Amino acid sequence: MNLDDMYRETILDHNQNPRNRGHLGHATKTVGMLNPTCGDQIELELLLDDGKVSDIRFAGQGCSISMASASMMTEAVKGKSIEDARALARQFKAFLTGANNGESLGDLEALQGVSQFPSRVKCATLAHNALEKALSDDVDESPPNRQ
Ligand code: FES
Repeated sequence: MNLDDMYRETILDHNQNPRNRGHLGHATKTVGMLNPTCGDQIELELLLDDGKVSDIRFAGQGCSISMASASMMTEAVKGKSIEDARALARQFKAFLTGANNGESLGDLEALQGVSQFPSRVKCATLAHNALEKALSDDVDESPPNRQ
């Protein structure tokens, strides 16, 4: 299996068996984020506790890239400190624009091919933009924000 096939398998796996999909009964932060180019939307719920992302869930609908990316992101940030979770979102977005600093991104690296398709970058970064919004200081329970 070559690298492209491996990446395809990883994306397919997260799309068919999404991790952390659903709702938390006890979220401390909830945000919605809309991809204005297609109308797809994600809702992110986080349980922030003792400076960490103790738990996280996502819901909503979107293309396979956006849903796989959300699944990978939730898996990557669960248990991380808030600062490290913010850093991961920044690093992933830099990765998609070819400006990453060599940090390992785990399964999220399977999305590297998306960088060649600017319109799909919005799909892949939807969940990460929602994460950044959720971890910003002024978040509230407002309706979906446009990216
Ligand atoms: Fe809507 Fe990808 S086409 S998020």
